[in-house]
Amino acid sequence: MAGRRALVTGGASGIGLAAVRRLAAEGARVVAVDQRPPPAGGPGVPYLTADVTRPDQVAATVNRAAALLGGPADVLVNAAGIYRIRPLLELTPAEWDETLAVNLRGPFLVGRAVAAALIDAGRPGAIVNIASTAALVADGAEPSAHYNASKAGVLALTRQMAVEWARHRIRVNAVCPGVIDTPMLRLMDDPAAGQAYLDRGVPLGRLGTASEVAAVIVFLASADASYLTATAIPADGGSTAI
Ligand code: NAI
Repeated sequence: MAGRRALVTGGASGIGLAAVRRLAAEGARVVAVDQRPPPAGGPGVPYLTADVTRPDQVAATVNRAAALLGGPADVLVNAAGIYRIRPLLELTPAEWDETLAVNLRGPFLVGRAVAAALIDAGRPGAIVNIASTAALVADGAEPSAHYNASKAGVLALTRQMAVEWARHRIRVNAVCPGVIDTPMLRLMDDPAAGQAYLDRGVPLGRLGTASEVAAVIVFLASADASYLTATAIPADGGSTAI
């Protein structure tokens, strides 16, 4: 990652924070974006406050990040996201819109702004969108149709970005994390039920860590993945295989 300039949304927590740390450790210059401030003792990179659903804030943030990075970001990790459990019959249109806005409109807005800057500068780049295994399978225990739909949308967005921007040498891929131990995760609210789920539903029998997902993100952004675009890698301990 030496010489790369990275922008990470959702960089204040969980998978985004782990991606910030890993990218910085591998020599990238990194700017993190989040709605909330960085954690105490954070990774020592600049944080910009923005709501990824707001086009005005996204445009200003992508410009500010380019100034801080010394050029347009050539790695973008779209990790900002929200997860709300709600059965379909109780799900309100406002809740549907909120989740679609953060999880799908956000990557659209940030991805397009970053790609436009790269295309203007004639430079290549790599975008990694964080989808979910929820894009691939339903979940009876934690119903969240709006979340699942948003993440399936992220996979469609990833493919379309990849195809439209391939000629500009911008690769676009996704990661589909399974159950990852971050503040978002609700599974272990009930540890006994959580462990039973892991035993039954995850061949590796444990939660994933944010740094295990960050490793896949950095691989997809790196030159090692130079022939990968429009693809999605599950990082799920095998859960979608069974
Ligand atoms: P997290 O809740 O720890 O971090 C998400 C971050 O996104 C937070 O720092 C939050 O402030 C930020 N954020 C939320 N809305 C925002 C907005 N409108 N503008 C800017 N920032 C905003 O969650 P986690 O687990 O790290 O999730 C990261 C991504 O990974 C999300 O897209 C999530 O859907 C996805 N994911 C997580 C899984 C898990 O088991 N934790 C599983 C599959 C996917």
